[in-house]
Amino acid sequence: MKIHLVGVGGGHPDQITVQAVAMLHEVDVFLVADKGGDVGDLAEARAEILRRHVLGEPRVIQVADPERDRRPADYGAAVLDWHEARARAYEEVLLGLAPDTTVGFLVWGDPALYDSTIRVVERVRDFGNLDFDFDVTPGISSVSMLAAAHRIVLNRIGGPIVITTGRALLKDVEAGADNIVVMLDGNVTCRELVGTGRWGIHWGANLGTGDEQLVSGPLDECIEEIERARAALKTKHGWVMDTYLLRRLAAGG
Ligand SMILES: C[S@@+](CC[C@H](N)C(=O)[O-])C[C@H]1O[C@@H](n2cnc3c(N)ncnc32)[C@H](O)[C@@H]1O
Repeated sequence: MKIHLVGVGGGHPDQITVQAVAMLHEVDVFLVADKGGDVGDLAEARAEILRRHVLGEPRVIQVADPERDRRPADYGAAVLDWHEARARAYEEVLLGLAPDTTVGFLVWGDPALYDSTIRVVERVRDFGNLDFDFDVTPGISSVSMLAAAHRIVLNRIGGPIVITTGRALLKDVEAGADNIVVMLDGNVTCRELVGTGRWGIHWGANLGTGDEQLVSGPLDECIEEIERARAALKTKHGWVMDTYLLRRLAAGG
């Protein structure tokens, strides 16, 4: 058995590499996490990628995504439990396929950035019940999409950049980070930095989709517009995915 983990970009069906399309053509069966709930558009985005880039009717198996504890006492342990449950669910499906099957996972954005698929597939391999090799094809991440949409360079000349989550943002700021990309932030954590007059923001939501929203400027002036745009997307689609660059403003400006 062979498994291809293919990065398919973050929402625009054309933002997928030629190498990724070649990989999709090798696949016999696609496994797709069925997250349930209100994410119909995201499932449709994946379906559109297959329609546009793969000839014929590819076989797709939806695998119910295990429930995840969203407010655990121990976040790291809860994520590992969730990976384990996911790995068991994938293993069960894979064991039902012929040993010479080539399996594909469509991975949102880039598989190397805040995505668990690589870890989960490694876990399946560690169980030792299946014999397979896997490879990873990079994808265009939401971070690249954000920078392109705003026509910005993420780092200052020769400077560093921290990529973090909403959960860790304030800790990273406290540690001195001043040029920060924030992902996975359902709580708009940057609101905590409003009023300091110290931060600029480049914010993007549902990038690459027909409803992409962009806001940029001093954080203090932009926050309300960002909250409004987020709420409107959530009402319209039932979900919103946003990524933003926070940059400490130069003193005096
Ligand atoms: C589980 S992570 C997956 C990241 C993905 N592997 C990547 O390379 O972009 C999900 C987070 O990615 C960001 N994201 C993914 N797609 C996005 C999009 N189309 N527009 C804005 N942010 C997006 C959001 O911060 C979201 O909370």
